[in-house]
Amino acid sequence: MQTKIVLTEDEMPRQWYNIAADLPSPLQPPLGPDGNPITPEMLAPVFPMNIIEQEVSTERWIDIPEEVLAILSKWRPSPLHRAHALEKALGTPAKIFYKNESVSPAGSHKPNTAVPQAWYNKQFGIKRITTETGAGQWGSALAFACALLGLECKVFMVRISFDQKPFRKLMMATWGATCVASPSSETNAGRQILAQHPDTPGSLGIAISEAIEAAVTDPTGSTRYSLGSVLNHVMLHQTIIGLEAKKQLAKVGIKQPDVVIGCAGGGSNFAGLAFPFVNDKIHGAEIEVIPVEPTSCPTMTRGPFVYDHGDTAKMTPLLPMHSLGHDFIPPPIHAGGLRYHGMAPLVSQAIIEGLLTPRAIDQLECYESGALFARTEGIIPAPETNHAIAAAIQEAKKAKEEGKEKVILFNFSGHGLMDLVGYDNYFQGKLTNYALPESEMGNAIRELDALPKPKVVRTGKW
Ligand SMILES: Cc1ncc(COP(=O)(O)O)c(C=O)c1O
Repeated sequence: MQTKIVLTEDEMPRQWYNIAADLPSPLQPPLGPDGNPITPEMLAPVFPMNIIEQEVSTERWIDIPEEVLAILSKWRPSPLHRAHALEKALGTPAKIFYKNESVSPAGSHKPNTAVPQAWYNKQFGIKRITTETGAGQWGSALAFACALLGLECKVFMVRISFDQKPFRKLMMATWGATCVASPSSETNAGRQILAQHPDTPGSLGIAISEAIEAAVTDPTGSTRYSLGSVLNHVMLHQTIIGLEAKKQLAKVGIKQPDVVIGCAGGGSNFAGLAFPFVNDKIHGAEIEVIPVEPTSCPTMTRGPFVYDHGDTAKMTPLLPMHSLGHDFIPPPIHAGGLRYHGMAPLVSQAIIEGLLTPRAIDQLECYESGALFARTEGIIPAPETNHAIAAAIQEAKKAKEEGKEKVILFNFSGHGLMDLVGYDNYFQGKLTNYALPESEMGNAIRELDALPKPKVVRTGKW
């Protein structure tokens, strides 16, 4: 009846796992405005070269620098919990495990990449980092990392979350970062959107445009931009989650889980937990791997696989990904971190390969699941995390119907102590489900017709 499986600091993984080395069908390259693959040099005004090298690497294992390990070890290895109380409440024969990423100083998985990104920028001589944030989790994680490494940090926070989540702003301020609501009047991209839609709730796509513009227009050249999800190097940094989880499951005699689950906004916490297990699946293991998204922003379950920009102002290269279109402004649901039009190219390619089975879940079921989790396991989950919990509960109920003792592993991506307004709205019956109507999906996707199309390459093995 072990409840918490912990590793010592010595047992922390010392390398990240890069799934680009093992994907059966290769990732297609990002394209520039002329439709040709971009070169690393073209990304140099946006990211430092040491990060660009990681972004394009196909090395299977990449060493984690000692100084990064030293900072990560402030909270890592994170515990793996067995959800005994939740299992009991559900009366399921399934064994439910969750990897608790809420123990980081910022309260989520995001510092796993914020720390190495800040470190690589510093190594490259960068003084200031700009970024966007949805729910505020990423902005606060980067603010934390920049504080520890002595860098300046500027965060463009999606307007709806800026208003709904005042405490995240205060966390960023406490770590010494500057945070403004996006769209802002500080950038061309922001001013243009405000002129057309003065009351817009904002979106991650708009905030990314603003943060990139703020980085590349710094006349001193000492500012770079940092992205908290979507890109290959972010997925890479997060794999420490899954690598630890594997060691922890082995400690309680579990060779492999039957189901692996994570919520997916841009894909990073999901990929971080899942990719080491997807590697096993590529090599023959039978594991169901489920990324979960909101029905109101159904990128993986309804969005086509296209070449699209990562941001609204089309400043990023074209990425091969599932997307609802860079102009898509998702409805203002509380899971701000899942309000993104695109999905990581590595996750998208794994979906095309049939290695993943994406699922969309309604907001109310997610809150109901989160509340049950809080009342059994005790930790109050972030609204994003509730999506993973809801899928884990669906799977546990299925195991009960089938009478199977399945092992279900999910990522507890963050706590919800800064997101209690969402819970309050839920308890007061103010929240509704919102399945995106076909008519609203069409517009932003039609915009993509003029862009190049990625090839749909799959081996057909899964
Ligand atoms: C707690 C939490 N979980 C999940 C996400 C979704 O991001 P990703 O898909 O990159 O893990 C976020 C994003 O802000 C988050 O804050």
